[in-house]
Amino acid sequence: MKKVIIDSDFGIDDAVALFLAIDSEDLDVLGITTIYGNVDVEQATMNGHFLLEFLNASNIPIYRGAGTPLVRERYVSDETHGKYGLGNIVIDKKYEDWHTKTAPSYMIEMAQKYPDEITLITLGPLTNVANALTKNPDAMSQIKEIISMGGGVFKGNMSPVAEFNIWCDPEAAKIVYDSQIPVKMVGLNVTHEVVLTPNDSTFIKLIGGEKGALLSEMLEYYTTFYWNQEQIMGCVMHDPLAVAVASDQSIIDFMHAHVDISLSEVTRGECIVDVLHAWSKPNNSFVGMSVCPETFFDHFYKTLFKDKQR
Ligand code: BDR
Ligand code: CA
Repeated sequence: MKKVIIDSDFGIDDAVALFLAIDSEDLDVLGITTIYGNVDVEQATMNGHFLLEFLNASNIPIYRGAGTPLVRERYVSDETHGKYGLGNIVIDKKYEDWHTKTAPSYMIEMAQKYPDEITLITLGPLTNVANALTKNPDAMSQIKEIISMGGGVFKGNMSPVAEFNIWCDPEAAKIVYDSQIPVKMVGLNVTHEVVLTPNDSTFIKLIGGEKGALLSEMLEYYTTFYWNQEQIMGCVMHDPLAVAVASDQSIIDFMHAHVDISLSEVTRGECIVDVLHAWSKPNNSFVGMSVCPETFFDHFYKTLFKDKQR
């Protein structure tokens, strides 16, 4: 089993991604780290506890990470994932956030304990990983790979060229991409090909029992957002795609390329992918270029609802 740490800002698709990771037979989720992004880091941490409890997986530790980007103001938007991050779900229980170890310290500790074995799956801004790299670059060089939902090839959602997770903290993203840890970029150009339709949400509610009911409640909220915002008939499975690729790399075709992150204002957070190798710089990333949605959804249903299959 692949040892993974999931770094998340726990919005709706992060929650679906967590379900997929916990249910996956190929992934051993050692721990969760949280980050601001879709919601603030305190709420992200609460959402993580709520979801793990729901999945009977509260034995997996959660470590709180950064509340703000390295240098920029934190951007706050409630529309995409709802005020508390999980659509209309309100979490009224207060979970004890008892770990004093921070997210970067946990990443460093795991990199040292399991050299060249840890896959970091990042589903939010890259501030925690950048902080870990700054704190202990030697230890972090033993991270096997980072699978990062973020960026996109010629596609943005915060600007014509920048994706939310990278746009939130481009300075952090630059540290991560410059770090020499192999980064697999799962960007908008591939995630927008995996759209969960309203039919899927209904089906999940019909067959999925309690899990299906919770998932479809969140997915219905997300579907409405996508229709209002982008006139997409369904919701985009950004973060679940990053988790699925950790299990089955064949879902995405990657190109080995050099990626740089724009820190300038007009193109803030753009992932500049040197597809033509025009810069002749060393390749630092594997960039997702195309995806097979059928393979993704096959994995998605077989993993999440394996108990419902013969
Ligand atoms: C990313 O931003 C968040 O809203 C999603 O959870 C995903 O990680 C997509 O741009
Ligand atoms: Ca996310």
